Amino acid sequence: MYRILWGLVIALIAGFGWPQRSAAAPPQTSQCAACHGTNGMGNQAAGFPALAGLPAAYLQAQLAAFKSKERGNATMAGMAAPLTGAQMSALSDYYAALPVAPAPLPAALPTGPGAALAQRGDWQAGLADGIPSCDSCHGPGGLGVGTQFPRLAGQPAVYLAAQLNGWREGTRKTGPMGLMAAVARRLTPAQITAVTAYYAALPANPANGAQP
Ligand code: HEC
Ligand code: HEC
Repeated sequence: MYRILWGLVIALIAGFGWPQRSAAAPPQTSQCAACHGTNGMGNQAAGFPALAGLPAAYLQAQLAAFKSKERGNATMAGMAAPLTGAQMSALSDYYAALPVAPAPLPAALPTGPGAALAQRGDWQAGLADGIPSCDSCHGPGGLGVGTQFPRLAGQPAVYLAAQLNGWREGTRKTGPMGLMAAVARRLTPAQITAVTAYYAALPANPANGAQP
């Protein structure tokens, strides 16, 4: 009798897995998946950003900003327009909870001006006008910190560059305390190319906790 019960328990665990913590996918995700992927990891070739594992509060603020057009992007304005606050919240919670598969660091780590800017900043213009290291806010390896500083690692380079140019040109107006607008204004086009190539080459979830 007990044997049969245990057999049942094991079959249940093997067959259906442990209860999942992540919520069921909100219905809109069937649309989002066309660009951001069913796993939420975006599309490197097309330049669509990953959403998986980003902070829910950050994602929700972006959806609200697309809808209000304070963050200008025609595609995402159209996607966000019909969403209610509750739907944005559910979508953000869903993507924040999606796992990011671990991947090894590249054999040849990116070096040069992009890596230097990311890790040490650029203080040639002096203390007042220098550029703090990106990692000081975005975390080592650009993996993100807390709810305000999103992950940069593994995002498409064209996407990252478009964001920096958006702050420079005033089409992305949002973000805490104008921090990124201040940083982006100090970057040269060559620095933007170098630093975005650097972060795009890093894994979004380095295997074994490895760090560049
Ligand atoms: C047709 C393609 C497309 C579809 C469909 C789409 N997106 Fe996007 N999404 C984009 C693009 C392109 C960007 C980058 C916009 C920019 O450059 O500011 C983006 C950016 C975002 C961002 C900002 C990410 C960040 O790191 O700041 C969020 C959040 C987002 N999308 C959520 C969604 C959700 C939720 C859906 C479904 C309701 C959706 N998207 C559907 C193309 C799409
Ligand atoms: C003083 C802190 C700070 C520093 C230094 C900083 N960032 Fe940021 N960054 C932020 C914050 C805060 C956000 C989120 C903005 C928002 O909520 O819209 C952000 C967002 C971004 C984004 C948008 C990510 C996305 O998913 O859309 C990019 C790209 C970016 N930063 C690149 C950089 C680069 C490159 C550097 C170094 C040259 C850098 N940041 C340095 C605070 C900082």
